[in-house]
Amino acid sequence: MEKSSHKLAVAPMMDWTDRHCRYFLRLLSPGAMLYTEMVTAAAIVHGDADRFLHYNEEEHPLALQLGGSEPKWMAQATSRAAKFGYDEININVGCPSDRVQSGQFGACLMATPDIVADCFRAMQRETDIPITVKSRIGIDDRDDYEFLRTFVEALIDAGCRKFVVHARIAILEGLSPKENRTVPPLDYERVYRLKRDFPDLEVVINGGLTEVGHVDEVLQHVDGAMIGRQAYHQPYFLAELEHHFNPAVAMPSREAVVEQMIPYIDRQLATGVPFNSISRHMLGLFAGQPGARAWRRYISEHAHHDGAGSEILINALNAMPAAA
Ligand SMILES: Cc1cc2nc3c(=O)[nH]c(=O)nc-3n(C[C@H](O)[C@H](O)[C@H](O)COP(=O)(O)O)c2cc1C
Repeated sequence: MEKSSHKLAVAPMMDWTDRHCRYFLRLLSPGAMLYTEMVTAAAIVHGDADRFLHYNEEEHPLALQLGGSEPKWMAQATSRAAKFGYDEININVGCPSDRVQSGQFGACLMATPDIVADCFRAMQRETDIPITVKSRIGIDDRDDYEFLRTFVEALIDAGCRKFVVHARIAILEGLSPKENRTVPPLDYERVYRLKRDFPDLEVVINGGLTEVGHVDEVLQHVDGAMIGRQAYHQPYFLAELEHHFNPAVAMPSREAVVEQMIPYIDRQLATGVPFNSISRHMLGLFAGQPGARAWRRYISEHAHHDGAGSEILINALNAMPAAA
């Protein structure tokens, strides 16, 4: 299938965008840049790097998201990751969780742009793969454009050319990570202004994009749009977007996507992967369609059973009233 441009991206989402999820989403969107879950540099340097970095070739274009603030570790992790052939390595400067703050990385690093810039330089020395940054528009009481601009300028000096910006601030104390994705208001205008002030940068906007028309509109102002929760809960949205921006790409039927997943699932099961760890990402495939509930329910009720395999997907299709 023809690859469309990279102006669409699927967000890094811990526990969600693992390699099985990404394989599935790639069937719906041949061109979107997919991001891994965040992996800490320490996990790669001190842990089982293969386990964290392994992926399916079909997932390209694929970005690895790294978390960390120690330039030496970030560089070592980059060097190992580069051998795996990722298309981009992205630094997480947007995640507000406590665990991440205690490790000194994530959104709190927006307050120390020099540290992120040092990481960037150390990483880019290791590879020609583009190193990029994903941040918020601000943190806590630094809810102003100048703060974002200062952060970005430090990274531009270090050589960074692509920024993904989640268009809300992060509140580092008092809000859960989940609340930090809904409570601070979206401010797309601040991201547009960044693009106006630095037209040579590649600016990708993220946050709250749930409709094709909306994505169309933001792309009048910036270079790319990153979709998070909507891509997970309603993955067919990606097929609609892909078709909208690249009409030459036909929309696959949902049933065809299920069929394409079956050989993949069979191969994975043969290596010991539990069925549920793949099928759980497919629950939203029929969201908004007749039979969506039957699909979801059949899989949820059967996926945990001993010996569960790809036939459950066929049975789930048959359990849908519209398919009868
Ligand atoms: C379950 C979940 C896990 C997430 N994990 C990460 C992560 O590992 N790294 C990151 O930069 N952002 C993470 N995010 C934030 C998303 O990448 C994205 O910025 C956010 O959901 C806003 O986009 P949306 O409104 O399209 O969902 C996560 C979001 C969710 C819902």
